[in-house]
Amino acid sequence: MDLGISGRTALILGGTQGLGLSCAQSLASAGVNVVINGRDAERATQVAESLGVKSVSGDVSRPAERRRIIEEARAVGPISILVTNAGGPPPGPVESHAHDTWLNALETNMLAALDFAVQCLPSMKEEGFGRIVNVTSFTVREPYPNMGLATGVRAGLTGAMASLAREVAASGVTVNNLLPGLMDTGALHRVYTAQAAKEGISEEAAKIRMAESVPMRRLGLPEDFGNVCAFLCSRHAAYMTGQSITVDGGLSRSLL
Ligand SMILES: NC(=O)c1ccc[n+]([C@@H]2O[C@H](COP(=O)([O-])OP(=O)(O)OC[C@H]3O[C@@H](n4cnc5c(N)ncnc54)[C@H](OP(=O)(O)O)[C@@H]3O)[C@@H](O)[C@H]2O)c1
Repeated sequence: MDLGISGRTALILGGTQGLGLSCAQSLASAGVNVVINGRDAERATQVAESLGVKSVSGDVSRPAERRRIIEEARAVGPISILVTNAGGPPPGPVESHAHDTWLNALETNMLAALDFAVQCLPSMKEEGFGRIVNVTSFTVREPYPNMGLATGVRAGLTGAMASLAREVAASGVTVNNLLPGLMDTGALHRVYTAQAAKEGISEEAAKIRMAESVPMRRLGLPEDFGNVCAFLCSRHAAYMTGQSITVDGGLSRSLL
């Protein structure tokens, strides 16, 4: 299917590994000029070269770096597709997190996404086309043990983005959230290795137990996610905005 976005420029934050990388691969296959971001400059350059795309390294939790990332990405073209993503906050009971940990999670997983969106909106509005996709988590729909910090900041982002989506809806810009379930990528690997260490079981046993908790009886694959992201960025998704789309093999048990 022609997604109708060939030649447009996309900035994929946290796009050098895992789910962000999968979004970058799917968008690049659709003919989009992709710019990937990550903190590790060497990895960003290597991954970009292997995909035939550009990279801009930098830490999205730092406001000054956010401005530089945007400026460098704009050298490729006006950003009409923005995927906000980064590493997730640490797991643990709500009572265990220090104030600074909350502030860092807020900056990385909520305020960064809002800041990038606000910075990209003027040119999107001018073009009459924009796609903002925020990678959040299925835990925004259904709480999950030890994920209170991640869920708290992502619920805040979801609330702000729900308002933003309506504010810009008439200008051809859509704003949606993609909610990964238990996906076999870096963030989940850190969760099941921590569970294995805590319970004295093997990593493989912890991973299999996790996969069996999903109605589809498997963990999600990066490509399960990236292609949905590309669809949300396509011309065909023009009438979808303000939505939270779960990609989780049926894991979250909510009616809507
Ligand atoms: N995998 C799952 O099952 C799952 C489930 C629910 C939610 N999520 C969330 O979805 C997101 C992606 O997960 P994933 O498994 O794909 O993670 P991942 O494999 O760890 O990849 C994270 C990507 O973000 C980059 N990154 C991390 N912190 C950054 C920062 N401060 N600034 C810029 N780039 C940053 C990483 O590169 P560098 O390290 O080089 O910066 C990497 O490219 C995470 O926020 C995660 O919590 C994942």
